[in-house]
Amino acid sequence: MSGKSYHTSNPETEGAIDRNVPDFPIAGQSEEESYFRTHSAPSYLPEIQAQLESFIEYHLKNTGKRIALVTSGGTTVPLENNTVRFIDNFSAGTRGATSAEYFLENGYAVIFLHREFSLLPYSRHYSHTTNCFLDYMVEKDNKIEISPDFAPEMLQVLRKYNAAKSSNSLILVPFTTVNQYLFTLRMGSEALKKMGKNALFYLAAAVSDFFLPQSRMPQHKIQSQASGKLIVDLEQVPKFLSRLVDNWAPRSMIISFKLETDDSILIKKATAALDKYQHQLVIGNLLQTRKKEVVFVKPDSSQDWVRLTDKQVETNVEIESLIIPKVVQEHTLWINS
Ligand code: PMT
Repeated sequence: MSGKSYHTSNPETEGAIDRNVPDFPIAGQSEEESYFRTHSAPSYLPEIQAQLESFIEYHLKNTGKRIALVTSGGTTVPLENNTVRFIDNFSAGTRGATSAEYFLENGYAVIFLHREFSLLPYSRHYSHTTNCFLDYMVEKDNKIEISPDFAPEMLQVLRKYNAAKSSNSLILVPFTTVNQYLFTLRMGSEALKKMGKNALFYLAAAVSDFFLPQSRMPQHKIQSQASGKLIVDLEQVPKFLSRLVDNWAPRSMIISFKLETDDSILIKKATAALDKYQHQLVIGNLLQTRKKEVVFVKPDSSQDWVRLTDKQVETNVEIESLIIPKVVQEHTLWINS
């Protein structure tokens, strides 16, 4: 896998309440520009940019692979600059990490823009179980071995992992906060412009909808004894999808996800997102059934459900093994259109 590792979980501590910075406006017409003007980019961004550019260049020159930028996991909203408290969401990164593996299997190179410490392709098979990692090992003749119960499956995973690494097909790019996510997504999409239609954005991350602007963020831990209660006044995170579609990646295929908990509004919300952002595909899912069924909603109003059969559920087939080949098909159609 490419790339030095960065830790994003300790956001930088500059930019606490500063009355010179203009107040962040309520989400409106030019909210994207305002956001990037009033928030600072992560200091490590130029290094990640250089790595991404060389990854993209490598595939343009040597492999001709298509590239999928997969976003994965939830973003945090820090309430303090020296962050003790933050708002988070449920996403573990299962959809993103699993999808990334199937993109790789389908011949794509993958930029995996993920929440640090959420699930990663390949290691997810062992990091998100109720087993302790030591349960996968046994002691034999004073040495450690992989338990025969797990070895055959682990060998398959190891082979795929090594194939992704040796072909330089997977680059891991972390974020923790919504600010880091937005700056990195913008930078990544600019870098991917060179790929034109061969780039695909698969936006599976659960991005925070509300946040505390840097201009209003206290430097230090909010003291609990000060008032007895905490009233948090959050702003709406601008919907950057329109920016991505119109400006950051106008020639790439863009797939967003829509998560709902009420099945009666899922299709309506997915269709509304397509109308609003004018991109190519929304994959709708319900929190309760997201591992068993999703729906592809397209601008022609077609709705195509992808469902695991009972047998597939029993035999642990992953729904992403059905989703990704279908996405690849859509990408090919779109490239040729
Ligand atoms: O990680 P798991 O536990 O497996 O869960 C996976 C998932 C359920 C989180 C995933 O499948 C999913 O549905 N992700 C999208 C969640 C969602 O509904 O996001 P949204 O409605 O807030 O945003 C819709 C789309 O707009 C998203 O694709 C997002 O990338 C994009 N967006 C969101 C906020 C924002 N400020 N700008 C954006 O562009």
